[in-house]
Amino acid sequence: MCGIFAYLNYHVPRTRREILEVLIKGLRRLEYRGYDSAGVGIDGGNGKELETKAKTIHLIKQTGKVNALDEEILRQQEVDLDVEFDVHLGIAHTRWATHGVPSPVNSHPQRSDKNNEFIVIHNGIITNYKDLKKFLESKGYEFESETDTETIAKLVKYLYDNRESDDITFATLVEQVTQQLEGAFALVFKSLHYPGEAVGTRRGGPLLIGVRSDHKLSTDHIPILYRSSGKDKKSCNTLPRMDLDTCLFPVDDKAVEYYFASDASAVIEHTNRVIFLEDDDVAAVSDGRLSIHRIKRTAGDHPARAIQTLQMELQQIMKGNFSSFMQKEIFEQPESVVNTMRGRVNFENNTLILGGLKDHIKEIQRCRRLILIACGTSYHAGVATRQVLEELTELPVMVELASDFLDRNTPVFRDDVCFFISQSGETADSLLALRYCKERGALTVGITNTVGSSISRETDCGVHINAGPEIGVASTKAYTSQFVALIMFALLMCDDRISVQPRRREIIQGLKVLPDLIKEVLSLDEEIQKLAAELYQQKSVLIMGRGYHYATCLEGALKIKEITYMHSEGILAGELKHGPLALVDKLMPVIMIIMRDHTYTKCQNALQQVVARQGRPIVICDKEDYETISNSSRTIKVPHCVDCLQGVLSVIPLQLLSFHLAVLRGYDVDCPRNLAKSVTVE
Ligand code: F6R
Repeated sequence: MCGIFAYLNYHVPRTRREILEVLIKGLRRLEYRGYDSAGVGIDGGNGKELETKAKTIHLIKQTGKVNALDEEILRQQEVDLDVEFDVHLGIAHTRWATHGVPSPVNSHPQRSDKNNEFIVIHNGIITNYKDLKKFLESKGYEFESETDTETIAKLVKYLYDNRESDDITFATLVEQVTQQLEGAFALVFKSLHYPGEAVGTRRGGPLLIGVRSDHKLSTDHIPILYRSSGKDKKSCNTLPRMDLDTCLFPVDDKAVEYYFASDASAVIEHTNRVIFLEDDDVAAVSDGRLSIHRIKRTAGDHPARAIQTLQMELQQIMKGNFSSFMQKEIFEQPESVVNTMRGRVNFENNTLILGGLKDHIKEIQRCRRLILIACGTSYHAGVATRQVLEELTELPVMVELASDFLDRNTPVFRDDVCFFISQSGETADSLLALRYCKERGALTVGITNTVGSSISRETDCGVHINAGPEIGVASTKAYTSQFVALIMFALLMCDDRISVQPRRREIIQGLKVLPDLIKEVLSLDEEIQKLAAELYQQKSVLIMGRGYHYATCLEGALKIKEITYMHSEGILAGELKHGPLALVDKLMPVIMIIMRDHTYTKCQNALQQVVARQGRPIVICDKEDYETISNSSRTIKVPHCVDCLQGVLSVIPLQLLSFHLAVLRGYDVDCPRNLAKSVTVE
């Protein structure tokens, strides 16, 4: 949902070409967050003008993906790429349109005026932008784009033009801007009035800062500077200036580079030292020093931001030999599920530890109900594991789509435990639902894949699924890892109940063999590619199943919809005769999932109902289920596994099918139209 990236070099001489390369590379890493247009804002002139303050800011923006922007940069005649800058801030953006069609004028950076006095990049939505725009228009500001973001650029100029004191800092200005904004945002600003300075801030949108220096850094955490509470007007209006104890810089005040980014994948090739900003932090780099400001201290605030060391490897975010990230991530699943279990499940003595829950597990065991809240694929992980959670916890389990949960003002109580399942940890609907549940006193648990994400930080406790970065917009390995993480939680909840021990052991031993079974399913790739070749010109695909496999139907249909643009529906086989059966005829492609669990006989009935309407379903079934194999014209045979884990195996053929269908239909698998990876708007 838009990627923002900024690069500031301080006493590290870089040519404009090098600066643009860093910016473009950063955008490429963030492209999965939005890819309908992109832009950069850099200094004009020859790099020597910084001291005299006589300078210009140059904007280059283009519709389309980052490659289109890159080509546009090379076409630009007025930018001399070989000019060197000792200090420079470049800001860059890749967009997923919310307000205004994809076009250069609606792309970011957005600007305050024709001289580009202030420019800004934004991820999020400003909900009160119409009021702000009206106010600014009444003051004579002329708007050129249809975006909400342009109001931010104009507002900062308005506040600058009407400043009370000439020595107002850039951070103070930005802080004044954020006080007027409603909605969600992560922002980075650049200005002609503050050359070589960057200010970034966030509320509801993710933002981190990478730091790189060959020199020793003065500290491993940055104390927060709170705005003075003094009575005199000036101190109230101006954020405190940093001193040596409240900022981060190399000891000898030399040579440092800062990277502002929506997520860590964009900075990891430059540095593994990062600071995750919290909502309402205003982070400013001035004279090469980074300081973090807030308006006021509130209860529970951490008075400092730690400089964390990322564990991520660059290789993890590269495609390797695969044609797309999605394909790579599908094939990573034997390892990603192992990583989810690593150090947590002991297969020798059938025990389990989830470090992130250990202080709360007793409280969770005493709760009145579990509510699993999520969106899209992450919601399907909740649907997939609901039954085993009910079985092993003996608690009522609700699975909720975050948006609908909020629309209904669903009653939540202090003795509820609310789970927030989210790959990115930044999904706006899930995050808002989390805050809603917290306000009502429920215990909140995060199931996330992104260290430092908003959901992982704001929940009381949680489990990192450790699937590794997921870049393909269509979620695959995160789903199977969320699935496994929730199963582990269910097992933990009943570890002292004697009566369920045989069942627990069966599931734990099922987890042990799962990676090998996933490998076996992946070996069906060629067969599934052939099936895709038969189906790719169809308009619609129905996917039917029940019990543990209803979630697989929903998830398979979502995968097909989002990357192949074919219509696809996941249908609960029990509902077939209540309507969907009318869709079935000899032409309609139908996929059925039939596994040897407690729903087997009912699934066989559904198969007969489809066949009786001349349907010729493709059946995903157990490789040893000779009855189904002999009754079906076409089968995809997967290995057998304990019933509640079988859904991990049944979904993989559908992931592969959607991938091959999309390739055959000629679509960009990693960047499906109209979508973005991290949905940080409501
Ligand atoms: C589909 C997909 C989306 C996400 C949904 C929630 O392939 O990726 O449906 O699952 O947007 O995202 P997270 O899990 O990041 O909260």
